[in-house]
Amino acid sequence: MTVTGFEQHFGSPAQGESSAPGRVNLIGEFTDYNEGWVLPCALEFRCRAHWRRRPDNKIVVVSQEYPGERDEFDGNAPYQQGSLPWANYVRAVVAASQTTGYPMGGIDLLLHSNVPQGRGLSSSAALEVAVLGALASAFDWPLETTEIARLGQLAENQFIGCQCGIMDQLVSAAAEPGSALLLDCQSLETTAIGIPEQWTLVVLDSNHPRQLVDSEYNDRRRDCELACRIIGVNSLRAATPAQLEAYRSEMTTSQFLRAKHVIEENQRVQASAEALANGRLTDLAQLLGEGHRSLADQFEVTVAATDALVAIAKAALGDRVAARQTGGGFGGAVICLCHHDDVETLVTAVHQEYGARTGLEATVFSSRAGAGLELVSYD
Ligand code: GLA
Repeated sequence: MTVTGFEQHFGSPAQGESSAPGRVNLIGEFTDYNEGWVLPCALEFRCRAHWRRRPDNKIVVVSQEYPGERDEFDGNAPYQQGSLPWANYVRAVVAASQTTGYPMGGIDLLLHSNVPQGRGLSSSAALEVAVLGALASAFDWPLETTEIARLGQLAENQFIGCQCGIMDQLVSAAAEPGSALLLDCQSLETTAIGIPEQWTLVVLDSNHPRQLVDSEYNDRRRDCELACRIIGVNSLRAATPAQLEAYRSEMTTSQFLRAKHVIEENQRVQASAEALANGRLTDLAQLLGEGHRSLADQFEVTVAATDALVAIAKAALGDRVAARQTGGGFGGAVICLCHHDDVETLVTAVHQEYGARTGLEATVFSSRAGAGLELVSYD
């Protein structure tokens, strides 16, 4: 969106722009809220927030994706849901920011995002981090990237009602171009791991309609917490496979399977980070393959459409492709990592077989790992 577009809405030019990316997770699924490790990277798709301070206390927000819609509220008032679902994310971010005690003023915001929505690619985290960047720039808040991520997560947990972990917001805030980010979700320490130049990230969007995602997500989180309590550890990060086995008879089947996935997935993330750092695609292919099977059989969050995409990718390229469902589950996208030279074979196989197997059409794109939060001042 250009500055001129901002002027058309608000009568004067923007003072700055804050932008943040969507993400794909290479591996480490449902480990973030169990204080484990994850290995996501940013996409090149971004949400941009153009902003200008206002002399009053109003937050006024418009979006290029929702022409004709506009939200307006008092930035110092307690959170209240409005009638525009997309704008409620801005309200939630503002409410989360109030907990910092930093002074909140008025601001005009114009949002523009090309992150595909509802595909498990974190369009909401991109919006949250971009808006937090705009607020921090406009009101001179000294926010660290980890604090931005925490506030984005708080907005989701407390006001939107999704009990997500911190992965999406943290990678959106802290990503480095060309790299995946190994995140320790307990210490919030981040380590960039370069993706070999000759590899491409291919995202296969299943276009499977995602339903009941938040309630299923929250249910699984509760199962993990109960399993944790039964074992007697603070988080599943601290639990060993032997402990899990010892307490198996005290758990429901689903608590046991969810916890088993998390404990094993943490080990896969460590091994995958090492394989990535050493450019070992075959090892990654095996680890991501195991990760997908565990999402299907133990965490039970895959659907026939994403299982089919992974099967098609593996049939086309075998161990030359690392592939699995990425993100919160119940559809969404499959992430593939393969050599540039193999992309065409992969994409052709998906186009030829996916429709016949599922009756759906996949949206396919390739991307380099993008940059995290970026702030630009026009003053
Ligand atoms: C969603 C959540 C994340 C994470 C993933 C699953 O993307 O927002 O916090 O839990 O699901 O790994």
